[in-house]
Amino acid sequence: MLIFADTADTKLLAELNETGLIDGVTTNPTLIAKSGRNILEVTREICAMIDGPVSAEVAATEFTQMVAEGEKLAKIADNVVIKVPLTVDGLKATRVFSDQGLMTNVTLCFSVSQALLAAKAGATFVSPFVGRLDDRGEDGMQLIRDIRTVYDNYEFETAILAASLRNTNHVAQAAIAGADCGTLPPAVIQAMFQHDLTDKGLETFLADWASTGQSIL
Ligand code: G3P
Repeated sequence: MLIFADTADTKLLAELNETGLIDGVTTNPTLIAKSGRNILEVTREICAMIDGPVSAEVAATEFTQMVAEGEKLAKIADNVVIKVPLTVDGLKATRVFSDQGLMTNVTLCFSVSQALLAAKAGATFVSPFVGRLDDRGEDGMQLIRDIRTVYDNYEFETAILAASLRNTNHVAQAAIAGADCGTLPPAVIQAMFQHDLTDKGLETFLADWASTGQSIL
C-alpha cells in the first residue's frame, strides 16, 4: 500500500520525506486553511518536494467552474492530481479531466455505489473516508473491503486511496483490505515507526553489545 501524507504543512512534510517513505501527498480545503498559505503556492512547493502524486482540491461545486479550477491546478506541475468532490458535477468534471489525460482523486466517498460511479467516470483515485464513517458508528473499513471486491469484480483501474485514517490500526486494516494507497496525517505516519517492544529490545541489545567491548568500525 502506498503511503501518502495528508497535510499541507511543508515543514512537517519535508521532515517526513527525508525517510524516503512518502509516496504522495493529499490536501483538502481544511488543510490549506490550516496552513494559512495560498493554495497555488503551497501546492507548487509540495509538488517540487515530492516525486509522487499530489492531490489539490477544487473549491467550486459547479461543473464549468470545477473544470476551470482543475485545469489551473493541473498546470502547477505534472504530478498534480485534481481532487473533486463526489457529486454529479464532480463526476462530470472527472470524465473531462480523465479524457484530457489528467489525474483525478474523487473525494468524500462514503458508499460502494458512489465508488462505482467514480470508477466509471475514469477517476485515477477514489477516496473513501474510513474515520468519518466510524465517527457515526458505522464500519468504515468494510467500505474499503467492499470497494476492493467491486473494483476487482469488474477490473476497474481506479486506485482505492483509503482516507480519514486516524490511527495505525486503520492503516494496517486498510492494507489488509487491499487499499492501493492510504493517506495519513503526519502524526499517524510517525506513530507507524513506533513499538514499545522495539524500544525495549534495542535497549537490551545495546547493553549486551556494550558488555562485549567490541566495535564494528
Ligand atoms: O483528506 C481527507 C481525509 O483524510 C480527512 O480525514 O480525519 O478529517 O476525516 P478526517
